[in-house]
Amino acid sequence: MSIGSLLRFAALAAMVVGTPVAGSAEKTPASLAQRFAGHFKIGAAVEPWQLTGSEAPLLAQQFNSLTAENVMKPSRLQPNEGEFTFAKADAIVAYAKAKGMAVRGHTLLWHQRTPDWFWKDASGEPATRELVLARLQSHIATVVGRYKSTIGVWDVVNEVVDPSQPGCLRDNAWLRVVGPDYVDWAFRYAHDADPKAKLFINDFATTRHDKRACLVQVVQGLLDRGVPVHGVGHQMHVSVYEPTAQEVDETLSTFAHMGLGNQITELDMSLYPRRAYLLDDTIANLLELQAQRYAELMQVFLAHPEIDSVTFWGISDDHTHLTQGLEWWRREKPLLFDDEQEPKAAFWEVLKLVP
Ligand code: GLA
Repeated sequence: MSIGSLLRFAALAAMVVGTPVAGSAEKTPASLAQRFAGHFKIGAAVEPWQLTGSEAPLLAQQFNSLTAENVMKPSRLQPNEGEFTFAKADAIVAYAKAKGMAVRGHTLLWHQRTPDWFWKDASGEPATRELVLARLQSHIATVVGRYKSTIGVWDVVNEVVDPSQPGCLRDNAWLRVVGPDYVDWAFRYAHDADPKAKLFINDFATTRHDKRACLVQVVQGLLDRGVPVHGVGHQMHVSVYEPTAQEVDETLSTFAHMGLGNQITELDMSLYPRRAYLLDDTIANLLELQAQRYAELMQVFLAHPEIDSVTFWGISDDHTHLTQGLEWWRREKPLLFDDEQEPKAAFWEVLKLVP
């Protein structure tokens, strides 16, 4: 064996056992997707330009599931009535197919990114319940129908629960124009369009007690009425300070006991206390805390056999929704890879869970 092949062999062996090797192996560590295979898929939310950008090698190496960060939202897919713009969503789906990755469909109904035309009729008058439902059905049938062969899971409704409301549903145009059964219809239309697809209700802060209780109420109502709902998507935009592993475990157990699936759909971890503008500690200490907290949460996910997918809301700290609109001096570092796509301490701690 030549020296060259010996070095290549050593680097490969190190990748397999997950030990970083100086130089190239730092950029090509063991793959999360491979190491968590048998537990759950490891997903990333992406914009289409990231498929070929600086994060592309990391995406291909580390992840085996994709979510469109924005391009499958209703206003992006049907900006004007009957005018579907699928090119960007198609690019993500084609990439996933080529790489053998799964795709989570996100999302069919959300109070944000519903195009304005949904709410007016042809003469500019407020649209009736019947018209809005017909439009919802047409949107869902077209989108779910198009990706039937690739997208096995849909976030049918996003962020519909609000514990401050008497009926637990968010006070939005859907509720006001259609009534509370808009949620039922969204699921029924999705099921009609692809009876094999797994249909999820996706929300944030599902670990808070009042939010969880309301989500249980809404989901139980769906189940009682025979609505095809198969699982709960937990966004999991968390921070290094909250929620606790126990709160996460309690939430996941609650829905698992109801016979539902659980997926982690938008995981990232802020270094800032909620709504605060200053860091509580040095970045180095906070990144160490982040590593411990990530390991803690991933351990909880591993203890839940019903979880078959954990998606991070981004690939690396280079592109994260958390920094959008932030002051230049306030940088978020919420993911497992840093701005240069290097693995962070959190990556190595998480990897230790699956030796
Ligand atoms: C919610 C949505 C995501 C994304 C983030 C951005 O979590 O579900 O699609 O837009 O907000 O903050």
